[in-house]
Amino acid sequence: MGDLNTKKVFYQKSKCPFFLSFGAVWQTIRLSFFKKLGRILFTLLNNFARRNYCLAVFNRVKVDYIINFRYNSNACNSIFMSYFEIIGGKKLNGEIEVKGAKNAALKAVAAALLSREKWTITNFPFIEDTKRILELIEDLGVRVKRFSNKVEIQADQIKKSQLDDELAKKLRASIILAGPVLARKGEVRMHHPGGCVIGKRPIDMFLDGFQKFGAVVKWENDHFRMSAKKLKGAKIFFPRITVTGTETMMITAVLAEGETVLSNAAMEPEIPALAEFLNKCGAKISGAGTPTIKIRGVKSIKGGKLELIPDRIEAGTFAILGALAGGKVRIKNCVPDHVRALLTYLEKAGVKIEEKKNELIVWGAKKLKPVNIATHEYPGFATDIQPPFTLLMTQAKGSSLIHDSIFESRLMFTDALNLMGAHIAMNDPHRATVNGPTKLTGRKIASPDLRAGITLVLAGLIANGKTKIENIYQIDRGYEKIEERLQKLGADIRRVKK
Ligand code: EPU
Repeated sequence: MGDLNTKKVFYQKSKCPFFLSFGAVWQTIRLSFFKKLGRILFTLLNNFARRNYCLAVFNRVKVDYIINFRYNSNACNSIFMSYFEIIGGKKLNGEIEVKGAKNAALKAVAAALLSREKWTITNFPFIEDTKRILELIEDLGVRVKRFSNKVEIQADQIKKSQLDDELAKKLRASIILAGPVLARKGEVRMHHPGGCVIGKRPIDMFLDGFQKFGAVVKWENDHFRMSAKKLKGAKIFFPRITVTGTETMMITAVLAEGETVLSNAAMEPEIPALAEFLNKCGAKISGAGTPTIKIRGVKSIKGGKLELIPDRIEAGTFAILGALAGGKVRIKNCVPDHVRALLTYLEKAGVKIEEKKNELIVWGAKKLKPVNIATHEYPGFATDIQPPFTLLMTQAKGSSLIHDSIFESRLMFTDALNLMGAHIAMNDPHRATVNGPTKLTGRKIASPDLRAGITLVLAGLIANGKTKIENIYQIDRGYEKIEERLQKLGADIRRVKK
C-alpha cells in the first residue's frame, strides 16, 4: 500500500512543472536506453546472420566458380597445354590495331542462317569463339569459306536441327543459333550452352522468348528441344536486360509472321549494327539501339556484305594497357564513343588520352587516382572492362570500390592478382575494394576466363620478373594472336607450346 501511495504522491507531485519535466526526461532516458539496447542487439544479430548468409552465398558462388573453371579447362585440353611467358617491366610504345568485334561476329554468323543467299562478313576476327561457331554451322550443313579476315557463309541448306554437343558446350553464343535454325527447320535441339565462368548464366529468358513465338520447349536427356511449325510475332518484355537474349529474339523475329515488339531490350552497339545490315538484306527492324525494338516479319532475307564494327572491349583493354605500361600507345581502328564510359573514368583516374575519329592515343600514367566504378549495361561501364580496370586500380594511390552488378563470379580472378602482390578484398561476390598502389611480382597463374585472362597478361606486363599464364585457350577465345600484337609494342611475351 505504502508503495502505491508513494507512487501516487510521485505522480501527483509530478504534476508540478519540475517533476513533470523530470519524470518525462527520466521516462525518455529509460525508453531510449532500452530502445537503443534493443536496436544494438538487433543490429548485432542481424549483421551476424547477414554475414553468415553472405559468406554462405560467397562460398557457394566460389565453389560453382571452381567447378566451372575446372570443367572449362578440361574442355579444351590440347590448347590448354600452351602457356604465355611474360617478362614484365618493359615500357610499351607504338601502334596496336583493334580487330572486328567478337560479340558482333558471333551474332552475324547466326544471322547469316536466316538467308539462303551468300553473306560475306569482313573485319572478321579469327579467334577460338568465332572458329567454334563456324564449326557449329558447318556441322549443320552450312557452307563456310574462310579468308584472312573475312568469311563467306551460305546457308542455302541447313541439313540438321541438332547442334553439336561438344561445340555448343564451349560457347555461350551457341544459343543464338537456336533462333534461325528453329525458323528454318521448324525445330532445334541443343545442349545447355557453355562460355565464360563468370556466373550462373541461365537461359530462362531465351526459353520464355521462344515460347512466346509459339515454340514448344521440352527438356529431354540433357537437351533442350524446341519446335514450331510456324513462328508468330510476339510481344516480349525482358525482365532483365540481356544482350544475347535481345539479339536472339531480334534475329528470330525476322522470319516470324507478323510484328514482334521487344521491350527493355539491350542497347549495345553490336545490336543496331546488325539490325542495320539485316534491313539492307530485306528485314524490317526499327528501334535497335533503344530499349524498344520492333520487327515486322518477312518471308526471306537476301545476301550481302557486312563489315563488323571494331571490338570495343579490345579497344578499352588496350587503353588500360597504355595507361599501365605506356609510353605512348596509339590504338587504331576503334570507335571512341563505344568506350565513352571507360574514357570518362580513365580521365578521372588521371590518365591522359587524346581522341581522334577512329583512334585513341593513351600515355602511361605516373600518378593514378582511385576511382569507384559500377558496371552497367551499355552505355554504362561494360562488365567486360571491369577486370582490367580493377588491375589499373591496384596501381592507384588509395582505395577504390569495384562493383560488378551483372555477373556474380567476375571478381573471383582477383585472387590471382593478390597472389602477384595486389591488395584486393572481396566484400561480397559482386563487390571488391582495391587498395593501392601495390608492386606486382611475376607468378605462375592460370587464366580463369577470357577477360580475367587478358587482365593477367596486363598484370604480367607490369610485374617484376617472370609471369607464366596457363589455360590461355580462354584468352585466345577473344583476342587474335595477342602475343604478336603486344610484341609490336615492345612487350616481352611469348607463347610456349608444350
Ligand atoms: N540472364 C538471365 N537469364 C537469361 C539471360 C541472361 O538471368 O536468360 C542474366 C545473366 O546471368 C546476367 C545478365 O542477365 O546476369 C546479363 O547477361 P546477358 O544475357 O546480357 O549476357 P550475355 O548475352 O550472355 C554478353 C556478352 C558477354 C558480356 C555480356 C554483358 C556475348 C557472346 N557475350 O553475354 O561477353 O559480358 O553480354 O555485356 O555477346 C565476353 O565477351 O567476354 C563476354 C562474357
